[in-house]
Parts: sequence; C-alpha cells; structure tokens
Amino acid sequence: MDNRELIRLALAARQMAYAPYSKYRVGAALLTKQGKVYQGCNIENAAYTPSNCAERTAFFKAVSEGERGFEAIAIVGGSQDNPTDYAYPCGVCRQVMMEFCNPEEFRIITAVSEEQYMEQTLAAMLPHGFGPENLKES
Ligand code: THU
Repeated sequence: MDNRELIRLALAARQMAYAPYSKYRVGAALLTKQGKVYQGCNIENAAYTPSNCAERTAFFKAVSEGERGFEAIAIVGGSQDNPTDYAYPCGVCRQVMMEFCNPEEFRIITAVSEEQYMEQTLAAMLPHGFGPENLKES
C-alpha cells in the first residue's frame, strides 16, 4: 500500500464525515502492519463534546477489531468540497496514536490531494510524548 492509495482511501472516508456544526470534514485511513486499512471520519454531535475526530474513529475501529500494530495514517480535511490545506491531527488524537504506535516509526501523512502531501513521524508531531513505555517498571 503506497501513500497515494492510502490518501485515496482517506478522501473516500471524508465523504462519510458527519460535520453539520463545524462543516469541517475530515477523513482518515489507518494502515496496519499486516496491510489492512481502517477508514474513519469525524462524527459531530449537537451537544458538541461527544464529537469524535476522524483519526480516533479509525483507531477505535481498528483496536476494537483486535488490531495493535500500525504503520501509517493518512489524513485529509477541510471546509470545501476538496481539501485546500493540510489538516493536522489534534493533540488528543496524537496522544491516542502514542498509545499504540512506535513514535519513531509511525508515519503521519497529511494530504491535500493524492499528489500533494507531507509525511512526518509521530515523534516529530508529538515531541517527548508520554506513552506506555513511561509506565513500565524498571
Ligand atoms: N477534526 C478531526 O476530525 N481531525 C483533526 O485532526 C482535527 C479536527 C474534526 C473535529 C471536528 O468535527 C471538526 O474537525 C472541527 O474541529
């Protein structure tokens, strides 16, 4: 699975976004180490706080199916029909990634289109992140 294909799946997931309040529609495609992809979209709520980001939708779908090893996530978002700028994962979503991913290896692909994207590790996006390793007894 190359980056272009993963971005294509994130763009498809974005079509499912339920964002009647912010009108900011986000799609994500999460690639497991076995090569399976879980898609997610943002899901908003009239009470606002129960809203869920696209990235966490994808992670929670995957983890609830037993997945524990992840390689990369592609993210697309924006207010227009097509994304016009990069949508970066929020701090809460970065922390969820930190729980299940090796920060030095996990790739976060923020995309405007299949051709225009940036790729960074989780460690670059969440420096000095706190994760399961910090709770290990020595
Ligand atoms: N959102 C995401 O789904 N992912 C992000 O990385 C940033 C924000 C959603 C949450 C909310 O539904 C809308 O975008 C506006 O914040």
